[in-house]
Amino acid sequence: MATTGSNKRDWAALEHQYYQGTFKRQPVTLVRGEGTRVWDSEGRVYLDFVAGIAVNVLGHCHPAIIKAVQHQVTQLVHVSNLYYSTRQIELAELLAMQTQGMRSFFSNSGAEANEGAIKLARKYGRLRRNGAYEIISMENSFHGRTLATTAATGQASYQATWVPLPDGFKQVPFDDLQAVKAATSAKTAAILVEVVQGEGGIWPASKEFMQGLRAWCDEQNLVLICDEIQAGMGRTGKFFSWQHYDARPDIVTMAKGLAGGVPIGAMLTGARTDIFVPGDHGTTFGGNPLACAAGIAAVRTIIEENLLENATQMGKYWRSKLDALCARYSFIDSPRGSGLMNAVHVKHSLASIIVQQALAHGLLLNSTAPDTLRMIPPLILTRSDIDEAAELLERSLTDVAAMPVAQV
Ligand SMILES: Cc1ncc(COP(=O)(O)O)c(C=O)c1O
Repeated sequence: MATTGSNKRDWAALEHQYYQGTFKRQPVTLVRGEGTRVWDSEGRVYLDFVAGIAVNVLGHCHPAIIKAVQHQVTQLVHVSNLYYSTRQIELAELLAMQTQGMRSFFSNSGAEANEGAIKLARKYGRLRRNGAYEIISMENSFHGRTLATTAATGQASYQATWVPLPDGFKQVPFDDLQAVKAATSAKTAAILVEVVQGEGGIWPASKEFMQGLRAWCDEQNLVLICDEIQAGMGRTGKFFSWQHYDARPDIVTMAKGLAGGVPIGAMLTGARTDIFVPGDHGTTFGGNPLACAAGIAAVRTIIEENLLENATQMGKYWRSKLDALCARYSFIDSPRGSGLMNAVHVKHSLASIIVQQALAHGLLLNSTAPDTLRMIPPLILTRSDIDEAAELLERSLTDVAAMPVAQV
């Protein structure tokens, strides 16, 4: 197969020389993608169950994204938010249709979307809850890498190096309504939650928790923020994961799959918290015509090609394969997730070894922790992709089972 644009340069060595050491990368250089597959610089093909970390909801180089981007790039790429821009408004209109009329603010990433949500919640607290500013978020959550979103992230390992972090964030155990209630004080402005925790290892909240949060926010005049950055855009089989529970947030954040791989973020708000005025918040790039054209194509394709239903059906089929594999291999268990957002628990910290073996067999997987294997494939996945992935995963697990470390 083609190895577009690659020659025999040593990309790993060049990266080491020219790129900062922030990433622990798998030892492959990816050069081309199509649908559910990617190719490396050596011409090897991989079935992609990482999808750019839940970004490529339509797979790689979907014709709708190609067409939208190719057309838009000949019309208008960027103008700033000093002017009205048709694509931005059209994308916001599409998202309003998915949210019963919420209004959008577009940024460039998930962390920025959450920054916007934090600012909006603080403004609400200042105006409508006697100056309250504190945000309660969940242990084991992940909300981004800026300082405020790091403070909101409930994982000590992400925070330790960066103290002092911005004030006004507090974490409580996930899915524990009593803990949220006990932590609420006169200072509390908002509750921030991933309905399905992503980086934390794919943990769906319970219906009681989500509905309880909604009721608590109504009772206490708090703002409910759902971070849908990983679980949104149809990944769980609904456009937004809160829709499984009928627990509508006041503010929603999105990014990842929203423009099918083109960088974008969005912070949406319902009427109660729609209180930003000119000058409160801003961005140079956010919502530019190119990103929004891709976003329009991604949202329309998800709806028109029935990808929510596909995510539901394929999610069930993949789960049946995972159940069977967990029954056969003693070192994996507890399959969990929602739609095409799944994980299994891995004993003996073997997750990264399984990832390496899968890579060798042509399957891209990802571990969020030494004991967690995550699968977040594109929503265009087919049954035959799943059959193939299950076979590749089985081969990888068989390799690992033969290693002494798996036999303890
Ligand atoms: C739930 C959640 N929120 C926020 C973020 C941060 O998004 P970004 O990396 O685009 O800033 C992520 C990224 O993984 C995420 O999964």
